[in-house]
Amino acid sequence: MCSLVTRFRSLILHNPISNAAGVFGTHTDELDQMFRTHSGLMVTKSATLGSRVGNKWPAYWENSQISVNSMGLPNNGIEYYVDYIRDLPEGKPCILSIANIDNEQTADILQYINELDYIKYPEINVSCPNIEGKEQLAYDYEGLEYFLTNILDKNYTKPYGLKLPPYFDPVHIDLVSDIIESHPNIVFLTCINSVGNVLHIDIDTESSVIIPKSGLGGLGGDYILPIALSNVYQFKKRLPHIDIIGCGGIRSGEDVFKHILVGATFVQIGTHLNRKGLGSIERIAEELRSIMNKKGYQTLDDFRGHYK
Ligand code: DHB
Repeated sequence: MCSLVTRFRSLILHNPISNAAGVFGTHTDELDQMFRTHSGLMVTKSATLGSRVGNKWPAYWENSQISVNSMGLPNNGIEYYVDYIRDLPEGKPCILSIANIDNEQTADILQYINELDYIKYPEINVSCPNIEGKEQLAYDYEGLEYFLTNILDKNYTKPYGLKLPPYFDPVHIDLVSDIIESHPNIVFLTCINSVGNVLHIDIDTESSVIIPKSGLGGLGGDYILPIALSNVYQFKKRLPHIDIIGCGGIRSGEDVFKHILVGATFVQIGTHLNRKGLGSIERIAEELRSIMNKKGYQTLDDFRGHYK
């Protein structure tokens, strides 16, 4: 019988599956539900310093293949999530996701959590596409370097990760990798966030399926799997000492297998969990196990990063 046990830095996970930030992570009752699932770990909604209501509804839409969202970071503020993690029983690690919408506010958040030993490996979201008038930080290479040097490294002294947007040119992956390499506290990258600013049109209404930003929103679901795999693969190759967390387009054990084959340490699932519910985590884990059994792999390390 094969094992799905995954080592992620100092954590031992009983399987490599998590929710993605923003899905089953906004309210404590959702986080409690995640805690009770079969997942190896969990992650909160991206938190800001204070709470936010987010964008006007409808801001989320999905069909059987894709999702489009422009939620606008509705969340309960950093303390809500930090306190939740502090009070969580042993058994499942919970990663704190932090959104950067303002450098000064993020500096305050980082100073606050730097003192808390129960906050491990926060995921700093530098790729939210849904704040009107604000560029995704990770597409602004100078702004990203400034942020990492003057906000992150000055206010937070422990290991952390970045949630990155998709990149579409290997030269951009090289550029971002160079920046990341010069910040040794970055120990993981989550690839990828949604593909920002797509437009899905409803032919009956002749308008978008969501309201904010004139209908532009972040794309998730089946269509982004090949984009995610390409980003996981390229970043792992460029930065072999960094853990890459695969996120994008996962709906089956086969999809998890592909993410791990190109180098993912573990994976996060967004659109599919939202659509099918948390029961799908156990099914996906079983599908992964069955692929491994068929191929004769005992552990995830037997094929992780072995893409030919
Ligand atoms: C939201 C969307 C994202 O893709 C993200 O990374 C963070 C927040 C949102 O609109 O709430």
